[in-house]
Amino acid sequence: MTAGMRRIKSVEDSIRDTDEPEHRLKKHLSGLDLTVFGVGVIIGTGIFVLTGVVARDQAGPAVAISFVIAGVVCGLAAICYAEFASTVPVAGSAYTFSYATFGELIAWIIGWDLVLELALGAATVAVGWSGYLNQLLGDLGIPLPESIAGETARFNIPAIVIVAVMTAVLILGIKLSSRVTAVIVVIKVAIVLLVIGVGFFFVEAANYSPFVPPAQPAEAGATGWDAPLVQTLFGYDQGTFGWGGVMAGAAVVFFAFIGFDIVATAAEETRNPGRDLPRGILGSLAICTVLYVAVSLVVVGMQRYSELSADAPLAAAFSDVGLPIFAGIISVGALAGLTSVVMILMLGQSRVLFAMSRDRLLPAGFAAVHPRYGTPYKITIITGVFVAVLAAAVPLEELANLVNIGTLFAFVLVSVGVIVLRRTRPDLPRAFRVPLMPVLPILSALACLWLMLNLPGETWWRFLVWMALGFAMYFLYGRRNSRFNTPGGREDAAAANAARRT
Ligand code: ALA
Repeated sequence: MTAGMRRIKSVEDSIRDTDEPEHRLKKHLSGLDLTVFGVGVIIGTGIFVLTGVVARDQAGPAVAISFVIAGVVCGLAAICYAEFASTVPVAGSAYTFSYATFGELIAWIIGWDLVLELALGAATVAVGWSGYLNQLLGDLGIPLPESIAGETARFNIPAIVIVAVMTAVLILGIKLSSRVTAVIVVIKVAIVLLVIGVGFFFVEAANYSPFVPPAQPAEAGATGWDAPLVQTLFGYDQGTFGWGGVMAGAAVVFFAFIGFDIVATAAEETRNPGRDLPRGILGSLAICTVLYVAVSLVVVGMQRYSELSADAPLAAAFSDVGLPIFAGIISVGALAGLTSVVMILMLGQSRVLFAMSRDRLLPAGFAAVHPRYGTPYKITIITGVFVAVLAAAVPLEELANLVNIGTLFAFVLVSVGVIVLRRTRPDLPRAFRVPLMPVLPILSALACLWLMLNLPGETWWRFLVWMALGFAMYFLYGRRNSRFNTPGGREDAAAANAARRT
């Protein structure tokens, strides 16, 4: 165990690896590209679907406050990501940052954990895409059978198709991927602005009352392992609605913000990472937070929260006020919008696995870069197949909270890591620095932990089982094959690191 902790990959080593000819990615992206990437992955199922579920079942009109709370927590984490990304501009995001601060074991664990955010997240959104598609086809009178399409399919064919197409786009090049994203983002943001701009005129003040519906005792369903862990641990009845419901709602709508951290995984493909990564991370998060709060306020103002649709709340609210045309436009926009979320989550996953293979914690051959397209094509194909299998056959609805817990765990480590790296490597150039050190990162870590505790006990169980599996994998494979173990590998660097610390 301790050897895994001592193996710290220096920031210099990480940066040097990016220049190895067989592992060099093309540097095409600007700050604007990164912001567009961020918005492309952030706006998705969260705002198009979860707004309705959370308002109806947990928070009422105060879902807007749930969005603010989740946005503030993400903002704190985003500031920590921005410092790391500007200091270690290497593919792999939280995995690479952890390798530089906590050592190989934790880096591996975080890489393993990120599969929950990225691959599982991509599969969840691909299934949501299939649901939207089938709803639209149903409106046109040509629905696909529910056994092969939609959210409850046994073998989800549209989900496989969207994953396959997006995998192909990713292989063909980061520039193409960013062009596709740019088009989708324009459509998506236009739809969101349409909802805000038109919906505003249909808001009825009466729908905002009560803004925070009075707390109710938990129903039979939300007890035991279904209930937020914080409730089970401390023995109080958080119930639904009231401020407890607003907090639990924040842990769920957190999903809507996932993605700003993926901007950091494109670090090696960025022309001026020190300047552009912080801009991309913080810029995309700020834009989305403002849009989310506005959309949620408009939607709960248009329709009574208890009547909101759990599947397509934005579209349904427009049908409800007698504007079915807008409902159709919103559904098409949501369908387009979800495609870029699937694509960028897979982009992030392939870059994290790429970094892990380059370090030989996964087979080194996976890290090959395509001679013509300059993309890590092997690992992209592996990612695509894995996500397609998950999306095709696993009942994902129950697993969606796993995506949140996995992401929050990565945020906790990154927040703590920023403090550690400032202490262990004060000498490194930092184009962006977290203000109020160490108060801000500590607050960030505590806030993320708090949201984790607001997730159901069952989610915690699944998370712990997945992490235990990760531990086992490290000792069975990663530790032995690590680049630290290869002749002329990194043992010398590890010794130097240890000497520096003593
Ligand atoms: N934030 C992304 C979404 O809401 C994952 O779909």
